[in-house]
Amino acid sequence: MSILVTGGAGYIGTHTCVSLLNAGYSVIIADNLANSKIESINKIKEITNKEVSFYQVDVTNSVDVEKIFFSHNIEGVIHFAGLKAVGESVEKPLQYYYNNLVSTIVIAEACIKFGVEKLIFSSSATVYGDNVVPFTEEMELKPTTNPYGTSKAMCEKILIDVVNANPNFSVSLLRYFNPVGAHESGLIGEAPNGIPNNLMPYLTQVAKGKLEKLRVFGNDYSTIDGTGVRDYIHVMDLAEGHLAAFKHIKKGVQIYNLGTGNGVSVLQLIKAFEEANNMIIPYSIVERRAGDIAECYADVSKVEKELGWTAKRDVLEMCRDAWKFELNNI
Ligand code: NAD
Ligand code: WQD
Repeated sequence: MSILVTGGAGYIGTHTCVSLLNAGYSVIIADNLANSKIESINKIKEITNKEVSFYQVDVTNSVDVEKIFFSHNIEGVIHFAGLKAVGESVEKPLQYYYNNLVSTIVIAEACIKFGVEKLIFSSSATVYGDNVVPFTEEMELKPTTNPYGTSKAMCEKILIDVVNANPNFSVSLLRYFNPVGAHESGLIGEAPNGIPNNLMPYLTQVAKGKLEKLRVFGNDYSTIDGTGVRDYIHVMDLAEGHLAAFKHIKKGVQIYNLGTGNGVSVLQLIKAFEEANNMIIPYSIVERRAGDIAECYADVSKVEKELGWTAKRDVLEMCRDAWKFELNNI
């Protein structure tokens, strides 16, 4: 039996494939390489010393997806494939709604058609919007700020309706907080195209001298030091969270936060990066970034209790591994 990993060539997908392979699962990857490179497949093989099947397909194409389901004995699907740049989603809403919604519909449809009953979906803490922290899974969703977030909330709703209509189906909706860091080998990690939008890849590029200095978006939030607070989670902890979710998946819909439960400010992250990697990061305070909220961190009690999973790696390890990958990634 194999697990089909859509978007398995991407940042979180590659790390999850490594965890799955190391745990003894067979892995099939379907990715159109829209935001990743074929080399990442070889890196997965290099790290694990195991084989994977790779299909370069667009998972919005039901004919191509069904060919994969037809050719393999698939036990379950982890659906990472999607577009994720918040700013771009505001400029290209149709592209984001089409890709994220249609891919989810096509995957769910193929699962039902081929009797594959386990599906894990990549959701995001962005669906909580400006609720009061810490975010619990039961909160009303407020993904109002951008089409990307709305697309995630819509996919959640679609999958809940699919389960209501197909009671044997098992769906796990995983809401990731802020994934950072890289595999300890430094072989795989986050390599965004162009100038990064997210804090950690921006930080590593400043550290390397590719970018001049970090701009801290606002220091007048009502947080510990005025800068934005987030729940950064090591990508390998996140990967292991998928393993736990897959092992414990049961009929119906389960929703879990994948975070550490700790809020870390921008200035605290800069300090941790400096300490972990023994360097100074030049930065300046600038205006708030439009659409940002002050604080975002998880209540992790439900996931700890029900899946027995907890994030193990601390912020220093996230910073060390992110830097190691940046050094390898020319
Ligand atoms: P990523 O862009 O690195 O990986 C996504 C992969 O999906 C890429 O390899 C891309 O080529 C592929 N893809 C996109 N559309 C496709 C399609 N139609 N058919 C086939 N392949 C397609 O992103 P990531 O950071 O690894 O994120 C994985 C998932 O987790 C996404 O759904 C994202 O929205 C979600 N997520 C990410 C974060 C984050 O901060 N990285 C946070 C919360 C949720
Ligand atoms: C973190 C903090 C910024 C860059 C985004 C998506 C979210 C999810 C994860 C997919 C904030 C500050 C940032 C910089 C800065 N992705 N910052 N200078 O915005 O929490 O979440 O990625 O689902 O949906 O919105 O992450 O890394 O961009 O920002 O000061 O150059 O760092 O203001 O407080 P964010 P981020």
